[in-house]
Amino acid sequence: MDLNAPSPADLAARPVVRMQHVTKVFSNGTLALSDMTLEVRAGEFVSLLGPSGCGKSTALRIVAGLGDTTTGSIDWPSSRIRPNGLPEDDIGFVFQEPTLMPWATVFANVWLPLKLKGVSKRDARPRVMEVLDSVGLADFATAYPRELSGGMKMRVSIARALATQPKLLLMDEPFAALDEITRQKLNDDVLWLWRETGITVIFVTHSVFESVYLSNRIVVMKARPGQVFLDMPLEVLTKRDADYRLSDEYAANTRKVSQALQQAIQKGAEA
Ligand SMILES: Nc1ncnc2c1ncn2[C@@H]1O[C@H](COP(=O)(O)OP(=O)(O)OP(=O)(O)O)[C@@H](O)[C@H]1O
Ligand SMILES: [Mg+2]
Repeated sequence: MDLNAPSPADLAARPVVRMQHVTKVFSNGTLALSDMTLEVRAGEFVSLLGPSGCGKSTALRIVAGLGDTTTGSIDWPSSRIRPNGLPEDDIGFVFQEPTLMPWATVFANVWLPLKLKGVSKRDARPRVMEVLDSVGLADFATAYPRELSGGMKMRVSIARALATQPKLLLMDEPFAALDEITRQKLNDDVLWLWRETGITVIFVTHSVFESVYLSNRIVVMKARPGQVFLDMPLEVLTKRDADYRLSDEYAANTRKVSQALQQAIQKGAEA
């Protein structure tokens, strides 16, 4: 027995992911991130908010292993690590576009990440149906993407990201292209999934309203160079539902976050 190996309880208490002093310079010389440090703990719902071009997507892609850091480090203190430096626990990624395979059914789209891991269609069926059910699409397993509304396509995309039961879900402006009512409904669904599964979420958005509705921590970034400007815990006393959107608490929180965003924009403009 390895006496130095951390116990499962020790592992669970550690951050899920830690970016330390990350700098990213693209090959064309763009300094997208500079000295970005961010630690995300298990069960947090963190929104990344900031002006266009401040590096939100870059940060998310680096966390997902879809891009390298120039300097600095990413580590996964609560996970076992694969030889490629990524955690053994899967990472779910939801993009702004649902990016579904148009020629494949809803079932086949959600099965894909499991298929890539070698799980047969028959073995994947219970999980695929479970995750489709969790996004309200169990009756659409045999439908094709063209038969679905924008909101439904996004639900399929979320189901696909959850298929492998990831510990961390990364979402990059997933609802930006949807109408307000669909967006609010999907916000509620994501909150429900977060509560039900205990998953950790990093959610990129431009919307102060959305970030205040969803998250228990808001990280405001600034541009030129991209880095964390303000890290705000958000303790919400009211239940997050339609009444919360109309509450004084929601109004006060959105005011606070809007001010922080305004300051971040100003700071970036001065740079
Ligand atoms: N592949 C790339 N090559 C060169 N520059 C890039 C690349 N990807 C992003 N950038 C630049 O890096 C900076 C950060 O981009 P990023 O897409 O991360 O910002 P963002 O905060 O996600 O913006 P938005 O809110 O508009 O989505 C920008 O200046 C962008 O032009
Ligand atoms: Mg982006």
